Amino acid sequence: MQPVTLYHADALDLLNPERGAINPESVACIHFDGSYGMGYQSHRREEFLDKMNGDNDVPAMMSLHMYAFDLSEHILVPGGSLFMWTSLTRKSAIEVLSPILVEFQWRDEKHSPKWATLCNKIIWDKIVFGTGWNWRRAYEEVFHFFKGKELRWCGGNGMSNVIREPRPVIPTDGHSAMKPLAVVSHLLKAVTKPGDLVVDPVMGSGSAIEAAWRMGCRVIGGDNDMKWVAYTADRLKRLGAQVDIRTMESHDK
Ligand SMILES: C[S@@+](CC[C@H](N)C(=O)[O-])C[C@H]1O[C@@H](n2cnc3c(N)ncnc32)[C@H](O)[C@@H]1O
Repeated sequence: MQPVTLYHADALDLLNPERGAINPESVACIHFDGSYGMGYQSHRREEFLDKMNGDNDVPAMMSLHMYAFDLSEHILVPGGSLFMWTSLTRKSAIEVLSPILVEFQWRDEKHSPKWATLCNKIIWDKIVFGTGWNWRRAYEEVFHFFKGKELRWCGGNGMSNVIREPRPVIPTDGHSAMKPLAVVSHLLKAVTKPGDLVVDPVMGSGSAIEAAWRMGCRVIGGDNDMKWVAYTADRLKRLGAQVDIRTMESHDK
């Protein structure tokens, strides 16, 4: 059975091939569901706050997403996929992904200056409304980029870009942002096959790690909060996976 390696690490260290955890051009799919709230941390946060002269977390979140986007180029195989989640009902999320998306806005695939092609936007319809009082959140969305001009597609004749799946019931000790297994499985099934390497450097409760493992993929996960590394390790061990936990010190701290 394929092993699972989980890192207590900053996402930007884990994704950096020079740090040695992930080889260049080895990853079929990166699942990236970064924080969009106050819980966000990055060792490059200060650098960005200085640069943007800001006093909130948005520039820091932008730094995580932008650097992660750039690093993905080096570790993805040609045609490999990057799924980046957002939630455009929140202003911060629009700001975070804009610098990446603007690059794609007015250009066709051929003339995109980026290493990646924007493939599609996939909606997770949560069916049940979230809390609130006016427009209540019933969906989230994930942007699908791939490396180069030719997508490595494994989803047969095609798959829906709307996933209808109720929001999960979060266990009391669970992660508030836990993605349902069915949702991440839908994404991964489209672009991976057994034996492929899947990476989630901001794995939280580990839904994408479990989905990839169940599909027979090799998996590398990470989170900068040890609580979620231990949580995901337990989750995978309960399924019978062999889990190796490692710590990666940050060079930039
Ligand atoms: C939105 S949650 C991910 C939820 C996950 N998709 C799931 O299904 O449970 C984001 C996670 O990223 C982690 N995180 C935030 N900043 C990070 C960073 N710079 N490096 C690594 N992990 C980070 C947080 O601890 C949190 O667990």
